[in-house]
Amino acid sequence: MESASLERQYDIIVWGATGFTGRLVTEYMATRYLDSNVRWAIAGRNSSKLESLVAGRNIPMLTADSHDPASLAALVKQTKVILTTVGPYARYGSELVAACSEQGTHYCDLTGEVHWMRKMIDEHQTTAAASGAVIVHTCGFDSIPSDMGVYFLQKQMQEKHGVTAQQIKYRTRAFKGGFSGGTADSMIAMMEAAQKDPSIRRIAGNPYSLNDGPPGRDGGDRFGVYFDEDFGAWVGPFVMAGVNTRVVRRSNELLSARSAGYGENFRYDEGSVVGEGAKGFLGATAMSVGTGAFVGLAAIPLTRKGLQKFLPKPGEGPTVEQIENGFFTVELLGKHPSDSSKDIRVRVHGDRDPGYGSTSKMIAESAIALAQEELPVGGGIWTPASAIGDALLARLPANAGVTFEVI
Ligand SMILES: NC(=O)c1ccc[n+]([C@@H]2O[C@H](COP(=O)([O-])OP(=O)(O)OC[C@H]3O[C@@H](n4cnc5c(N)ncnc54)[C@H](OP(=O)(O)O)[C@@H]3O)[C@@H](O)[C@H]2O)c1
Repeated sequence: MESASLERQYDIIVWGATGFTGRLVTEYMATRYLDSNVRWAIAGRNSSKLESLVAGRNIPMLTADSHDPASLAALVKQTKVILTTVGPYARYGSELVAACSEQGTHYCDLTGEVHWMRKMIDEHQTTAAASGAVIVHTCGFDSIPSDMGVYFLQKQMQEKHGVTAQQIKYRTRAFKGGFSGGTADSMIAMMEAAQKDPSIRRIAGNPYSLNDGPPGRDGGDRFGVYFDEDFGAWVGPFVMAGVNTRVVRRSNELLSARSAGYGENFRYDEGSVVGEGAKGFLGATAMSVGTGAFVGLAAIPLTRKGLQKFLPKPGEGPTVEQIENGFFTVELLGKHPSDSSKDIRVRVHGDRDPGYGSTSKMIAESAIALAQEELPVGGGIWTPASAIGDALLARLPANAGVTFEVI
């Protein structure tokens, strides 16, 4: 096994560069880091698609195939970090995590597939720990605003009041954006897998499915509508809560092992603020019913086929205008353990469409943090906050238009 600290030809290889999100990552890297001190290359399975992406610029390109382990081993040995946008990850990603874990190559991705992350932890934690490979899932809209929002809030609570918040509520305030064929494919693939395999349904329903130790105090996700006094508004479900809450809870466990955790009584949940009065109630109800209807349609094979006709195809996604005019704003409320006048509210804001414009910048900055910053952890399967938390708190506002502020 080699370690990523050994000299390698590249700092970062963008794997899946020809896909919808991969192209955005490539353009972000080209705009900011072409001919810089970051040595990076793009890779994919189709050299002519890669060539058209390079378009005469000084960007090295490499080829491999997700299902050819020898080609992946050759790829990952050349770089300190693999940034991958090749998904659905449960379909295309397992051999790559195995190769990085064995070769001591750091890794970041955009998966939201909780059952697959659980499988990767179970299969590769020991190998990654031995090789020094720092593996970090969920470096996009899921779950950086959640994981890093909580990390930032807890740091503020510690600095101001010398304690950690025992409960944090995450509420989306507003966002504008679309979704891509790869995301649709990943959501449908997860539904199909859960339908066939009851163990996947159990993992999805377990609020602590990414933790290795005993569960904490949180129950399952809320799908109904409720009035949240702390936000003075009706709240509906947040579609990514089933991923983000698991990641935040894993961060707590991993950070606790080095005494920087949020405490064993820590509670965390996510929801979408809709509004006040009857209008807010009706909007939150529509959101709850809409989420349920989507899940219901996607769960039944016949209606799933119909639904797929209306969803974007792999390689497709929001327009440039939609990406540039998009944004997201979420608010987190951290409750002081004994004095509500010391509660802290934090706003996390992104200046582009969350799933693509902001996501491509967040994962690129995560990869650079893995390649260039001094990491507080050794090899293993980490979360963004536990592995690159401090680096991201500096890099995201400075470079990626994602800000964290106390309000
Ligand atoms: N967490 C988030 O916030 C977030 C946001 C955006 C996307 N995502 C996730 O990111 C993933 C990608 O989404 P997307 O819309 O960009 O997908 P996409 O456009 O379909 O791109 C998929 C990429 O995978 C490549 N690929 C497929 N099979 C391969 C193989 N056997 N070997 C090598 N490469 C292969 C494709 O190569 P070709 O170009 O050659 O076909 C393409 O580059 C999805 O899982 C999605 O859910 C997550």
